[in-house]
Amino acid sequence: MTITSELQAWPLATIPRTARDVWEVSYPDFVAMINQTNVMPGAFATLNAWATFSRIGTASSVLELACTTGFSSRELARLTGCRAVGFDLSADAVALAGYNHRLADPALRLTYQVANGMQYQPHEKFSHVVVGAALGFFPDPRRMARRVTDFLVDGGYVLASPFWSETPLPDHVRKIRREVFGISSEMETYKEALDLFRGLDVMYESRSGLVPETDAEIELYCTSTVDRACAQSGIDSAEVRQALFDRLVEVKNATNLLRQYQRYSVLALRYDARSYPNRYVELF
Ligand SMILES: C[S@@+](CC[C@H](N)C(=O)[O-])C[C@H]1O[C@@H](n2cnc3c(N)ncnc32)[C@H](O)[C@@H]1O
Repeated sequence: MTITSELQAWPLATIPRTARDVWEVSYPDFVAMINQTNVMPGAFATLNAWATFSRIGTASSVLELACTTGFSSRELARLTGCRAVGFDLSADAVALAGYNHRLADPALRLTYQVANGMQYQPHEKFSHVVVGAALGFFPDPRRMARRVTDFLVDGGYVLASPFWSETPLPDHVRKIRREVFGISSEMETYKEALDLFRGLDVMYESRSGLVPETDAEIELYCTSTVDRACAQSGIDSAEVRQALFDRLVEVKNATNLLRQYQRYSVLALRYDARSYPNRYVELF
């Protein structure tokens, strides 16, 4: 990535001028403001399992729901040569997804749109729909989950990586989850997380714990991300840089706290229109 390409096309019209500008935006818009590489649980390892176990290739068409800055669709396109469409409610996040596409490789077949998942009506059906852990960000995850099969061709796949927890989150953890990430839905148990996708064939499933990051790992991540965002957007105010750093550290510390209570599953789920929503095969 050259300095020229970083500077030429920062896509947001509003650039923060004060610490207050940084702290008053919503969490999704903050992710866009710092061009955070926002990922699903398991990051590249989850992506690779999805690609492998759902056989994504050059003929595949992928829809990424709640795409934020475009990690899953962009990296799946790089890994497999697939075509992908992503949408998100945050116009700033969608603008950054497009920017990251142009920086990574404009030849990748990627399209990004601003849309609300509860009303989204695509013009085509897809071979794969990536939901990651995004259902938790919808006010009614079950209603959104029910819409996902409408986006798929018969025999297509839902690719998910939901968080779950067998014990209810303590009150102070629920409060941080709501205040830092804006998530108000209840944390699912393992059975509840799987039940969101009831009737789909479980072609691949794993269950993983989450290892908290060290202070040094958080420091490297936050410094790298904030310095890149300042270079890309032309921010040169020390006050703004510090606020971006402080808010991102707060986000990462909240993620670390949640990691103590959450696990996640990587899922590749096949939609078989002849059997859905029934199930004739034992889960495992
Ligand atoms: C943290 S991100 C999802 C993370 C990641 N894609 C994953 O797989 O876990 C949550 C995103 O959901 C988006 N979102 C929330 N409600 C939405 C809705 N109704 N329609 C579309 N996107 C929505 C937010 O704008 C935000 O960018």
